[in-house]
Amino acid sequence: MSTPAIGVVGAGYVGLVTGVGLSTLGHTVRIADRDTDRIDRLRQGVPPIFEPGLEPAIRAGLEHGRLSFDVSNETTASVSNVLYLAVPTPMADNGSADLEAIVSVVDEVLPALPELACIVIKSTVPPGTARSLEDRVKEVRGDVHVVSNPEFLTQGRALENFLHPHRIVVGSPTPEAARRVAGLYTSIDAPVLITSPTTAEMVKYASNTFLATKVSFINSIARLCDSVGASVDDVVEGLGLEPRIGRAFLKPGPGFGGSCLPKDTAALAHLAQEVGLKPSLLNAVLEENAMQLDYLEERIRGLVEESRTIGVWGLTFKAGTDDLRDSPAVALVQRLIADGYDVATFDPMAPRTSHLGRRVSSAEEAARDAAVLVVLTEWPEFAAADFERVAQVMSGRFVVDGRNVLDQLTVEEAGLVYSAVGRSALEPR
Ligand code: UGA
Repeated sequence: MSTPAIGVVGAGYVGLVTGVGLSTLGHTVRIADRDTDRIDRLRQGVPPIFEPGLEPAIRAGLEHGRLSFDVSNETTASVSNVLYLAVPTPMADNGSADLEAIVSVVDEVLPALPELACIVIKSTVPPGTARSLEDRVKEVRGDVHVVSNPEFLTQGRALENFLHPHRIVVGSPTPEAARRVAGLYTSIDAPVLITSPTTAEMVKYASNTFLATKVSFINSIARLCDSVGASVDDVVEGLGLEPRIGRAFLKPGPGFGGSCLPKDTAALAHLAQEVGLKPSLLNAVLEENAMQLDYLEERIRGLVEESRTIGVWGLTFKAGTDDLRDSPAVALVQRLIADGYDVATFDPMAPRTSHLGRRVSSAEEAARDAAVLVVLTEWPEFAAADFERVAQVMSGRFVVDGRNVLDQLTVEEAGLVYSAVGRSALEPR
């Protein structure tokens, strides 16, 4: 077998997509993870997560001998001229990013790395982290550099995002290391931005927190639309016609979730506080996000009358993924269950192992006997549901469209009462 020039530590979501993406570009890549089950399955070509295109890409990499998997970080490091780190950086209790895992992996792999190797930080880490890791590395290995190369992968389109990115950002302490890492992507047609490591890390945080800001902005506008009787759909249409604003990331919903936007916004707010700045905008973004879920919860409670059965469509933090991490749908279901509601839940993709209310196996089953039916994830099949049938099996009449994805007329024609966020102008008066 040829020697892998690229190693990746961490076969989680980011590490796996990065490693598999690099092998798709033609590089020889070894991916390491301590989880032996995961590695065994990956060696058989079975990915641990659902991500379109990932499984065939893993199989192709294995077949062509460009991709291999290992349980040892050290062995992987020893054959990697460029070693990507994609280990988790969870949120600590105070909102900061917990960097323990990444620091301990750096210490572990450092002695094993070949001469003049580069460590590339793929994990999302607060601005300043790569620089401080570089200082730590230099104490032991003067020949090794630490480069920041943030990821901009969106779940559900991650491999596509990797292969066709809007930009590649490389934050490097030296031009030579920058050239080496940027050189791995030469077959990709995208602008390459070379910066300092801290600036690259900032680009990542600024991107995610800007997206979070857009979602909180439109959710607060949607609530206002309800109060004054305006249609948020038309407001977004109007905003979108102005090129300086655009319409991307302005879909109202139950608030932003997932493993990135909430955590990164909290971490940047924490960092701002730490350096003596007042993160009022970032705090407001998080506050608005929490308020949106409260608003939806109140709406549902207000509609439940005698029967305490609620049907929920959608659990994942967005459509196109099986990921439940920090999902607003999960948080809402848990609150309702804690308050004694009988909640039947259906999601086409969420792992069956997660016990969230009464998990049922179809959208119709979740609607059965429900006083209120709530849509919390924008799976396309929900909009296409047979609402005549839904109306027959429900005990009550109310449908709360927490994602503004259903067609109001279709729902109403089935004899149901439609309620959404920011669409009050459309509601019957
Ligand atoms: C996000 C970013 O979009 C990626 O660019 C980034 O690389 C990634 O985080 C990361 O840091 O790894 P992701 O977490 O997959 O990607 O999810 P998004 O598509 O950004 O959605 C985040 C949340 O915002 C979801 O709960 C989604 O439903 C919500 N959202 C999004 C809305 O409520 N309205 C919108 O208009 C857009």
